Amino acid sequence: MALLEIKNLTVKFGGLTAVDNLDMTVSEGTIHSLIGPNGAGKTTVFNAITGVVRPHSGSISLNGVDLTHVKPHRIIEFGVSRTFQSVVVFKYLTVLENLYIGYHRAVKLNLFEEFLPEKRKAATWEMYLKALQIADFLGLKSRLLSYAGSIPYMAQKLVEIGRALMSEPKIVLLDEPAAGLTDTETEQMKEIIRHIKEEMKITVLLVEHDMEVVMNLSDTVTVMDFGKKISEGRPEVVKNDKEVIKAYLGENEDA
Ligand SMILES: Nc1ncnc2c1ncn2[C@@H]1O[C@H](COP(=O)(O)OP(=O)(O)O)[C@@H](O)[C@H]1O
Ligand SMILES: [Mg+2]
Repeated sequence: MALLEIKNLTVKFGGLTAVDNLDMTVSEGTIHSLIGPNGAGKTTVFNAITGVVRPHSGSISLNGVDLTHVKPHRIIEFGVSRTFQSVVVFKYLTVLENLYIGYHRAVKLNLFEEFLPEKRKAATWEMYLKALQIADFLGLKSRLLSYAGSIPYMAQKLVEIGRALMSEPKIVLLDEPAAGLTDTETEQMKEIIRHIKEEMKITVLLVEHDMEVVMNLSDTVTVMDFGKKISEGRPEVVKNDKEVIKAYLGENEDA
């Protein structure tokens, strides 16, 4: 079943068309990867979905609910959360506090309840339990009281993922979760992404450069080059697509 539907999406920055008439459908319960050479427009697609950039044209919807004009600070209420290409944690907050920041979707007290200490206590307790559960899954329990800026890079990446999971999203957008990781850490990251799909039942839209990760995890792969979709399908099919090989060879020549 279609969860996220992107139709005829175009994003322009001045004279540059970063995303060019993109159609893409992410099915519920899948890991869907968006790949392509540097500058292909992948992060811009994430920014358009989350309202960070305004599309020139086209539409984005989740479960049929139009997200095209939703503001970034409200996107979480619609069941969408994300991580960033360069890790974004609040360095001078603890890991626990970083997780709390992701939670605001679920705590819904009305104005009256706000003044009832027991209601507030219950809401805080619920948030704490959720954070514990997520920290446990990510192996972060022993770090809950550390400043997020003081823990290793991999752990910071996990905090960011944890924060994105706190809101119990329908879909989580992960921008290069394996970038900068060692081989062992990459394996760990793969397990985590698989667990998000299989155990937490959250759909994953993944941007990733590590082809082994993409081919191993994805149900579907969409390939972009210069803002346009050039291929889409099962990983084994996309991998052998001539257009895809050509796009990636071009990238290597530049390097
Ligand atoms: N905020 C912005 N302002 C101007 N140009 C941008 C902006 N964001 C991205 N771009 C340009 O859009 C193109 C696509 O970028 P991006 O989406 O980051 O690619 P990718 O994530 O696939 O590497 C690039 O040419 C990039 O320089
Ligand atoms: Mg990018």
